[in-house]
Amino acid sequence: MDDEVIVEINSDADLVTARAEARALASRLGFSRTDATLIATALSEIARNIVVHVGRGRITMRHVREERRYGLVAVAEDEGPGIRHLGAALAEGNASRGGLGLGLPGARRLMDEFEVVCGSVRGTTVTMKKWRIPDELELLRQKRRGGGGARPNPAKADPRR
Ligand SMILES: Nc1ncnc2c1ncn2[C@@H]1O[C@H](COP(=O)(O)OP(=O)(O)OP(=O)(O)O)[C@@H](O)[C@H]1O
Ligand SMILES: [Mg+2]
Repeated sequence: MDDEVIVEINSDADLVTARAEARALASRLGFSRTDATLIATALSEIARNIVVHVGRGRITMRHVREERRYGLVAVAEDEGPGIRHLGAALAEGNASRGGLGLGLPGARRLMDEFEVVCGSVRGTTVTMKKWRIPDELELLRQKRRGGGGARPNPAKADPRR
């Protein structure tokens, strides 16, 4: 379950890959289909920014675990010019080059944690996390197993999702 997925972002075609890989990892980690879609959408917006505003970069996704929760973390990195007015870019409607300026704020809303760091000279790194909220049945099972920390259960395969 410690798989790490790296998607190189160079063109529009890679957005499809990023989206598919995000969705696949999210479902391997037991996220609901809805959450997997939200994660995939956020990642594809950030990947699209790399294609449109920089040209190339990469997204790394993996499982993140803390004592009582687990989730998915994605890190998007590029060596572009950085985001000049970051505060404004994170607010809606601040686009350049004809976009709508919804990508960054939209992606931020879809994820639980969202951090943008621009290098002092070049580069932008966007780190996004989504935490997985176990449902009641899962909590009950965990309790029965003896509490054990948060752990993804790919076998969970809830048919309702
Ligand atoms: N990786 C990046 N490198 C440099 N600048 C970026 C990067 N990502 C975003 N930006 C800047 O932040 C602005 C806001 O990004 P956002 O995705 O919200 O809007 P947009 O890409 O312009 O339009 P939209 O995504 O709605 O089509 C962009 O216009 C661009 O100037
Ligand atoms: Mg955008």
